[in-house]
Amino acid sequence: MVTYNIWRVHHDESFWENPFTFDPTRFLDEHGKLLPPEDEKRHRLLTFGIGKRSCIGENLARARIFLGLTSILQNFDLTRDPSEPFPSSDPRTYEITFFLKPPSYKLQFTPRH
Ligand code: HEM
Repeated sequence: MVTYNIWRVHHDESFWENPFTFDPTRFLDEHGKLLPPEDEKRHRLLTFGIGKRSCIGENLARARIFLGLTSILQNFDLTRDPSEPFPSSDPRTYEITFFLKPPSYKLQFTPRH
């Protein structure tokens, strides 16, 4: 049996630049395009696990997240209160519950039409 530590892979400071910073642009090339699937960064992103026991719900989860997120972005402008900066996105500062729990923050949803 092979087991692996997803946290370790995702926070390996010898590979990732700023592994504790939320930065989706790390997966884009210099033209703003998503890196190709064969890029090592893509290989090291194991959101749904890897191998025989990887997540059986991956396609469903991806479809639902895409639909949910695009529905929100199509229908609302999202703004934040400039007087309240976003809390840190460093997971080492999160509260440890069953999952790591990020701090709450306020966003204003303004209908787009
Ligand atoms: C964003 C959403 C999700 C994430 C990030 C996620 C992530 C994962 C991860 C990391 C594993 C473990 C893989 C391993 O042990 O190697 C897993 C397993 C599993 N996931 Fe998900 N999952 C998600 C959504 C779902 C959904 C929607 C379903 C079902 C409808 C689901 C069903 C399962 C099942 C049944 C397993 C166990 C597979 C096995 O051991 O053979 N997951 N998931």
